Amino acid sequence: MKGVINKGIKEMLEQQYGHEQWEAVRKHAGCGDIFFSSLTDYPDHLTIRLFMSAGEILCLPVETVMIEFGKFWITETGRKTYPQIFHLAGKNARGFLLNMDRIHEQVTHGIPHAAPPRFEYDEMPDGSLAMHYFGRREMIPMLKGLVLGVGMYFNEELEVEEIPAMKENAACTVLVKFRQKA
Ligand code: HEM
Repeated sequence: MKGVINKGIKEMLEQQYGHEQWEAVRKHAGCGDIFFSSLTDYPDHLTIRLFMSAGEILCLPVETVMIEFGKFWITETGRKTYPQIFHLAGKNARGFLLNMDRIHEQVTHGIPHAAPPRFEYDEMPDGSLAMHYFGRREMIPMLKGLVLGVGMYFNEELEVEEIPAMKENAACTVLVKFRQKA
């Protein structure tokens, strides 16, 4: 997985819990890297170990760490690493999410070993958006956090609910509900 993900884990832990806690998580995960280059490909198991280790050191369920990571990545690491893409990818949360399939393909195009997540979409009769998530990594809590982060970025209140995959071979489907903030 691209270093921009591991970089986000490091930045979140340093910002929210301090450098010492990040160091504890890094060592507990057996991670020798003290910084991550955004475009370099790191093994998926390293990213998984960092999430698990953060859960153990901070005494939090790993799902919680991954959801918080998703929110942080959108509003901090991702936004700062890809300012141009964030600027162009959509005027609101729905438009931005609808562009995510294309964006993931573009940002990993030509990078060896990249296996970006892919998305298919269905507009539901109640106005919610069904996002069907395809990807070998099946990082579902992270997906939910990233969706919530998009809501934070656009200052919109989103609800995200995981339901069993509506499409063959999808890891899951998430239903995204859009509410106007009062
Ligand atoms: C402009 C915003 C975004 C950019 C530039 C971006 C870029 C990336 C990159 C480079 C990776 C690593 C892929 C790899 O190494 O193969 C990744 C992973 C991932 N992204 Fe995004 N991302 C963005 C927003 C989002 C959003 C909003 C979602 C969810 C709705 C999302 C869902 C995921 C998931 C679930 C993964 C984990 C990898 C997997 O499932 O295979 N991303 N993203």
